[in-house]
Amino acid sequence: MSYTIKLGMFGAWRGSSYVDLIAAEDPSVIQIIAVCDKQAKQLDNVKGLEGARLFSDFDEFLSYGKENGMNAVFLANYFHQHAPYAIKCMEAGMDVVSECTSASTLKECVELVRCVERTGRKYMIAENYPFMTLNLEMKRIIDGGTLGTFLYAEGEYNHSGTIETMKYLTPYKYHWRAWMPRTYYVTHAMGPLMYMTNSMPKYVSARAAHSERLAAFRDYRPNDDGMARMFCEMDNGMAASFTGCTAQASDYSRYRVVGDLGSVEQSGYTNDKVRLYYEDYTKPEGVDELVQYITPDLSAWGEKAEKALNAGHGGGDYWIVQNMIDYFANGKTPFFDVYKGVAMSATAILGWRSCLNHGENFRIPDFSNEEERKAVENDDLTPFPDDNGEGATLPPSTMYGKYDK
Ligand SMILES: NC(=O)c1ccc[n+]([C@@H]2O[C@H](COP(=O)([O-])OP(=O)(O)OC[C@H]3O[C@@H](n4cnc5c(N)ncnc54)[C@H](O)[C@@H]3O)[C@@H](O)[C@H]2O)c1
Repeated sequence: MSYTIKLGMFGAWRGSSYVDLIAAEDPSVIQIIAVCDKQAKQLDNVKGLEGARLFSDFDEFLSYGKENGMNAVFLANYFHQHAPYAIKCMEAGMDVVSECTSASTLKECVELVRCVERTGRKYMIAENYPFMTLNLEMKRIIDGGTLGTFLYAEGEYNHSGTIETMKYLTPYKYHWRAWMPRTYYVTHAMGPLMYMTNSMPKYVSARAAHSERLAAFRDYRPNDDGMARMFCEMDNGMAASFTGCTAQASDYSRYRVVGDLGSVEQSGYTNDKVRLYYEDYTKPEGVDELVQYITPDLSAWGEKAEKALNAGHGGGDYWIVQNMIDYFANGKTPFFDVYKGVAMSATAILGWRSCLNHGENFRIPDFSNEEERKAVENDDLTPFPDDNGEGATLPPSTMYGKYDK
């Protein structure tokens, strides 16, 4: 029997960038039936959306959904509040696709995983950078198996900007973007490496560096580090190093996977191509050049190629919608399920404690194991204050002192 995804969109700022992509799909497969945002100006972004009811209150949105067959919710609400809303939606019988990050504390990681297991609902994270065209090309090459044993992988995500841009993105004093330590937005740098090499993090240590440029803006945005870099031991034996979200003077994000036979990378300086390198003594049969610059061949994608090329974030947003359809309608579990989601969140959370504690090494819990969940089920340390500026238990920047265990 055919299944129609009747989607509710929660959060209409980032959420609105998915509206056209979803509207371009067959409505008998996926359609948006309701949108919720407490800000009228954000709801204005979607007011032309045919057939969708608009709400400013989440509870009203959810009750309308329950009565009208809403079977999935896209969470594009505040970064640090995804887990509690994901749980409410799954308890109400709906599947969830969540913007990054999955959870903002270890306690929430545990609650989220337990909820998925208890309710049997489907949960995926909308981490889109692994599905950028060039990152998919890197994965295709890596899957060919010619790089040998993975030794090292590197990911760097940069979102610097003027003070005006930061003000625009941080509309009020206690907005999450003003308090988010540099490790927390980890999925764009880390997710592609996990996807390309099919790996999970086991241990993390990290460092952050302070930015004088951002310090001048401290009264408005107290998170004035310019970058954090995490270093992980992965479950495939590889070492991986990646940033959270950096504010560095660099014109690109970049990804690199290095094996003992070859290495592959893409960044601003590979000019819309992927760079593949073999040594003279490791190159596969039929390969003449040591260095190749490869333009992705999208012919296998058929009519999807043009749609992906026109979608946001290097095509990544298009493939998130396809993953939702494959999962919610056709039962194909995506790579970024709840366990991968919370593993990334926990890397960011523990990475921050490491930055505050001179690079101390932390083990990432295995959230599929109840004993390991129990050990952290009450760990609710957070750098995020509530709307009144209360409740933060960790500093947002390394300039405010170190974490004392
Ligand atoms: N994957 C990507 O490439 C990408 C890009 C941009 C943003 N994001 C993610 O999307 C999420 C949202 O970010 P954003 O850029 O839209 O900024 P934002 O977090 O300021 O916007 C969230 C929106 O949700 C609404 N909202 C929050 N709580 C609500 C509630 N209880 N009731 C009603 N409305 C509520 C707000 O009014 C706001 O319009 C974040 O998690 C962010 O990390 C991801």
